[in-house]
Amino acid sequence: MLISQTMNEALNQQIGNEFSASLQYVAIASHFAAETLPELAAHFFKQAEEERDHAMRFVNYVVEAGGRAEIPAIPTSQAEFKTVEEAIQLSLDREKTVTEQINELVQLALKETDYITNNFLAWFLTEQLEEVSSMENLLRMVQRAGENNLLFVEDYLARHHGRKTAMPTAQT
Ligand code: FEO
Repeated sequence: MLISQTMNEALNQQIGNEFSASLQYVAIASHFAAETLPELAAHFFKQAEEERDHAMRFVNYVVEAGGRAEIPAIPTSQAEFKTVEEAIQLSLDREKTVTEQINELVQLALKETDYITNNFLAWFLTEQLEEVSSMENLLRMVQRAGENNLLFVEDYLARHHGRKTAMPTAQT
């Protein structure tokens, strides 16, 4: 096995965190769909798929490294939101939390001089930069439009449909 038992357990925890993020985005997308905001719904269903992909990257890595991928219990997602802003603020907070979790995994990898896992985690650091940045932009856009003018946000997302991220980011 290329990773320590401690690292295996920490990576398993992150598998749960990524699946949890995926399910939270499904809940948010469903809420937007119910509120007849189809572009916001599509955007968050896509985010949910990306988070599932993140979870699977961790699963594949643990298996490849000779560890055991065990999926922890996933907490219930928040399903009701008073405003669109509240849902997107929650998403941003969750992305920041995931960033801290990835940072902690990097710290553990360095502490264990586990450079293979450290190298694996580098992709996630770049991904978190992009995701936090794009979610901050979406939040700002929703705040600027206001809850009564969300069709501006819908229109923007429709026009940028097909990009990896709907929002311009620091990297583009
Ligand atoms: Fe996979 Fe956006 O955290």
